[in-house]
Amino acid sequence: MERKEFLSLVGISVGAVILQNCISGCSSKSDPTPSGNNGGSTSGGGTTTVTGLTGNATASKGTIDFTLDLTASDFATLKDNGKALIVGDVIVAKTKTGDYIAVAKACTHEGTTINFLSDQNKFKCPNHGSEFDTSGSVLLGPAATALKQYKASFDTTKSILSIKA
Ligand code: FES
Repeated sequence: MERKEFLSLVGISVGAVILQNCISGCSSKSDPTPSGNNGGSTSGGGTTTVTGLTGNATASKGTIDFTLDLTASDFATLKDNGKALIVGDVIVAKTKTGDYIAVAKACTHEGTTINFLSDQNKFKCPNHGSEFDTSGSVLLGPAATALKQYKASFDTTKSILSIKA
């Protein structure tokens, strides 16, 4: 095989590999559906369009006041006890005993997004370990300030969960 012929074949092979990687990489579609459990997230009032959210879930855009349609696939996970979702700036959870709760998602220490620990019925920050009860009060530092709590009410007839400041 001549050098020129060899280089030509190598070029084709490398090109084929790059093309194949592009095809497999480019064809993977991003899933717009939010992840479901503790610490899962979706955007509300952000750039992602979600079905079943009405109102404002972003503090910088004004008073937090929104509803979630739990028949919509984006929020159906909140029908289950022990589940939580992040909606805009709020973490919404259904406790293991079936109560809906909602607090600001940002830890008051340095702003890390908190998680809901359903087994322990509390929120925990993954950054430095601050813990908050279901009303947002500090259980364990370094955070010294409570999370903002929102009112959560559920219309069982319509499957609409309302979150308000
Ligand atoms: S950012 Fe949450 S404990 Fe530090």
